Amino acid sequence: MTETTDREPANREPAPGGDLPEHVRRNRAAWDRWASEYVANGELSWRLGPGDEKWGIWDIPERELRLLPDDLAGRDTIELGCGTAYVSAWLARRGARPIGIDNSEAQLATARRFQAEHGLTFPLVHGNAEAVPFPDASFDLAISEYGASIWADPFAWVPEASRLLRPGGRLIFLINATLLMLCMPDEERAATNELVRPLRGLHRLEWSEDESVNFALSHGRWIGLLRASGFEVEGLVELWPGEGATSDFPYATAEWAAQWPTEEVWIARKPG
Ligand SMILES: C[S@@+](CC[C@H](N)C(=O)[O-])C[C@H]1O[C@@H](n2cnc3c(N)ncnc32)[C@H](O)[C@@H]1O
Repeated sequence: MTETTDREPANREPAPGGDLPEHVRRNRAAWDRWASEYVANGELSWRLGPGDEKWGIWDIPERELRLLPDDLAGRDTIELGCGTAYVSAWLARRGARPIGIDNSEAQLATARRFQAEHGLTFPLVHGNAEAVPFPDASFDLAISEYGASIWADPFAWVPEASRLLRPGGRLIFLINATLLMLCMPDEERAATNELVRPLRGLHRLEWSEDESVNFALSHGRWIGLLRASGFEVEGLVELWPGEGATSDFPYATAEWAAQWPTEEVWIARKPG
């Protein structure tokens, strides 16, 4: 943690790096290595004030998507796999009390630098979003934009998010669209119009070009997992790039993304 608050994490996890699952260790090494490549995007995203936030690889405006709840003032939020923590900065500027957790100390170092530059501090925890060191029912919103939502095992992090949320709390997460994951060749190449892997059994994905591990599920399994974890599914929003939008993301062309979703956002709520 970077600072002390009244919301100190309880000691639920061994020291970072101790008994981490194999995919978490591998992703920690990968993200510590990649962190410097994510500084520029973090810098731009930290500058976006309320109403100007932009989501995902196509920079789709929050004004259009309305993903963020209206009633954030005073709410306790946790960002699962916060990276450079710009989403938490957005939440803070809308009146929330955010905490970010991330598996990469290098990403958190960037987040801390931006906090200092913007004079906006909130707790940042180095840890695994599959075992978060906070008590049950600590938060009103759990959110993840390409964080734990794709890099942690959904069968571990979704029940953990449910544990962390209070009755009535929301879970919002942005991920690669399932269809994209079926059409992405196992190389640094953009998605094609062919299905290159089965939907059946889709879960853990490893890539030949690096040591990282990520995760994807079919829509049916997402719904089953969310419901088994105590959530009601409120929405599944497919993201479409605006006219003329471009992206540095190498895995889908704008032409592909105009026809099939590259990204999707799940919105779920704990009854209460
Ligand atoms: C693409 S970044 C997304 C975060 C943020 N939206 C950003 O762009 O900076 C992915 C982040 O997920 C983090 N991550 C991966 N596995 C994690 C885990 N098991 N628990 C917490 N964070 C994790 C990585 O360390 C990385 O900072």
